[in-house]
Amino acid sequence: MCGIVGYIGNDSAKNVIINGLRGLEYRGYDSAGIALGSRGRILVRKESGALENLEKKITKSEFDGKIGIGHTRWATHGSPTRENAHPHLSADGKIAVVHNGIIENYDELKPWLIENHHIEYRSETDTETIAHLIGVYYQGDLESAVKKAVLRMRGTYAFAAIAADEPNKIVAVRKDAPLIAGIGENCNYLASDIPALLKYTRDIYLIENDEMVILTKDEIKIYDADGTRVKREIMRVTWDADAAEKGGYEHFMMKEMCEQPDAIRKTLLPRIDNKGRIKLDGIKFEKDDLDVLDHIYIVACGTAYHAGLQGKSLFEKYVKIPTEVDLASEFRYRKPLVDNRTLFICISQSGETQDTLAALREAKKQGARILSICNAMGSSIARESDDVLYTWAGPEIAVASTKAYTTQLICLHLISMYMGRVRGTLPKVEFERIIEELKTLPEKAEETLKTENVMRELAEKFFIKEQIFYIGRGTDVGTAYEGSLKLKEISYINSFAIAAGELKHGTIALIRKQTLFFALATQDFLYEKMHSNIEEIKARNAHTVGITKDGNKRLAKICDEVVYIPKCSDEVASILAVIPLQLLAYHIAKLRKRDIDKPRNLAKSVTVE
Ligand code: F6R
Repeated sequence: MCGIVGYIGNDSAKNVIINGLRGLEYRGYDSAGIALGSRGRILVRKESGALENLEKKITKSEFDGKIGIGHTRWATHGSPTRENAHPHLSADGKIAVVHNGIIENYDELKPWLIENHHIEYRSETDTETIAHLIGVYYQGDLESAVKKAVLRMRGTYAFAAIAADEPNKIVAVRKDAPLIAGIGENCNYLASDIPALLKYTRDIYLIENDEMVILTKDEIKIYDADGTRVKREIMRVTWDADAAEKGGYEHFMMKEMCEQPDAIRKTLLPRIDNKGRIKLDGIKFEKDDLDVLDHIYIVACGTAYHAGLQGKSLFEKYVKIPTEVDLASEFRYRKPLVDNRTLFICISQSGETQDTLAALREAKKQGARILSICNAMGSSIARESDDVLYTWAGPEIAVASTKAYTTQLICLHLISMYMGRVRGTLPKVEFERIIEELKTLPEKAEETLKTENVMRELAEKFFIKEQIFYIGRGTDVGTAYEGSLKLKEISYINSFAIAAGELKHGTIALIRKQTLFFALATQDFLYEKMHSNIEEIKARNAHTVGITKDGNKRLAKICDEVVYIPKCSDEVASILAVIPLQLLAYHIAKLRKRDIDKPRNLAKSVTVE
C-alpha cells in the first residue's frame, strides 16, 4: 500500500528518496511525490502513475535539498491523481506531510479548518488535513505543532513532516501503521518498510505505536506518547539485498515460485532437531496450556485465509481441539465467542493487514492467547502477538502470494504437530511418519516445479477462456480456492472454486460443453468420491484437467489431461498441489499480457479496512 521515505544528511535527499521509493514499489502505488527542503523553501513534485513520471519532473538542479520526504500512494480517499498524491502542504506552503493510513475524523476537522482558519483545500485527501493542522499550530517549532495536531486526529497513521523554517529535522509519528528509522553516517533515514532503506543502512529502530521520532542528521530521538525519551535497541537487518531484486527472472512472481523449495527448507528444517522433535523458536506450550483450550480460531485474509483452511484440518486431526477458520474482515464484526480458553492464530505475510490486526486486537481484549504466523519481522501483527512463528520465506515482492503461502502451510504443520505431541493426541509413530514426509518436501517442491512446461502448454491452450472452475475435496478444497484466487488476481479471468461434493447443489447448472475444470484429486482416502464428482462433470461434456499424485492411473481414464505431483502422503499433498496452479495462473497472465507483479487494483499489503 502507501510507502514513506525520509532523509536528512549531507547528500542529495532527492536521490536517496527516489531510491527508497523504488524499494517500496512492491507495496503497490498509483502516484508518487517528493518534498525537499531547499534554501528556506519546500519544493514539491508529484505525479500519478509510475515513479519514472515523477523522476522526469525532478531532474532540475533546483532540487538540491539535503532534507526531504517522499511517498508512494495507493488511493483510498480521492482518486489517484497528481493533486491527491502526497506530499501535502500547509496553507502557506511551509509544512509538508506524507502519510500512510486514514484520518478517520478528517470530515470533522476539515470544516473546522475551513471556517476558523479560512483554509482552501487543494486535494480530496484526508492527509491534507494533517498538513493544515500542523500549519495552524506552527509557531517556529515543528515538534510542538505536530504534538498539537496529533491530539486532534483519530485514525491510523504513520506520517512524516518537514518545515521550511527548520531544515534540520524531520518529525514523524506512528499509530497503527508501520514506521522505522534508519541509522546512517552523518545522516538518518525514515521509512515505512525495511526494503526502502536496504541500499543505505541495515541498522534500524522500530517505531512503536503512539511514538514520535525526530530525525536530525546526527541523531534519532524517539519519544513516547507522554513525551518521555525512549531508549530503543538497534535492530540489525540480515536480509540479503539481492532478495529484494528480481535476480534474473522476468517477474518477481516467477522468482518467488521458484524459491519455494528453499523457503520450505528454511522454514522447516531448523525447527526439527536431530532427534526428530519440533522446536518452535521460543514458543512454548505446556500440556496444561493446551488442555485449558476449548477453541482455536484461525483468522486471516485472502491467500493467508486459504492457508488457514488447511490449518483447520491439521489442528482438529492432531490437537483434537475444535478449530474455526474465519475471514478477519468478518470475525471482528460478528461478536465471536472468545475468552481465555481460546487460542487465536492469525496468519499474515505482511503482518500489517488492517483487518487481521484489528481481529487480533479484539481477540486479545477478550483474553485469548495470540499466536501469529508472519513473514515480516517486526511487523505490527508480529509485535502484538504473544507468540510468533516466522515463515522464513524472505521478502515477497509480487502482489500474488506464493512462497508465503506454502511456508504458512509448513508453519501450520509444525505448530499443530508440536501441539499434538505436547497434548498426547498425536501418536509418536504417526508424528514420526509425517516428519519424514515433511522433510522430503523441499526436494519434492523442486520436482513439482518441473510441471512448468506442462502448465505453460495448458495455459497456451486455455488462456482465452473466460471462466475456469476448480474443484476438490478435503484439503484439496483449500488448494482449489487458492488456485482460483491466483488466476483471478493476475489474469483477471473469472474463476470459481468449490468443494466437489457441493457442485450438484446448484453450481452444476453452469456446466456446458467444454466448460473448463481443474479437478484436484490428491487425497487418496477421498479418491473414490472425487472420481464420482469428475464423472458427473464429464457426463455434462466439461473439459477436465486432473491434478493428482504420481502413480494414479485411474484419473487419466476420465480426465482430458492430468498433471502429476510427486508421490506423498495426503497430509502434505496440498503444499505441492498448489504449485502447478500458481504456474498456470502465471502463464495465463503472461499470455494475456497482464502486469503480473502488480495486478490492477491490488496492493501487497492491505492496511485499510
Ligand atoms: C493474494 C494475496 C492476498 C493476501 C491477503 C492477506 O495473492 O496475497 O490475498 O494473502 O491480502 O495479506 P497478508 O498475508 O499480508 O495478511
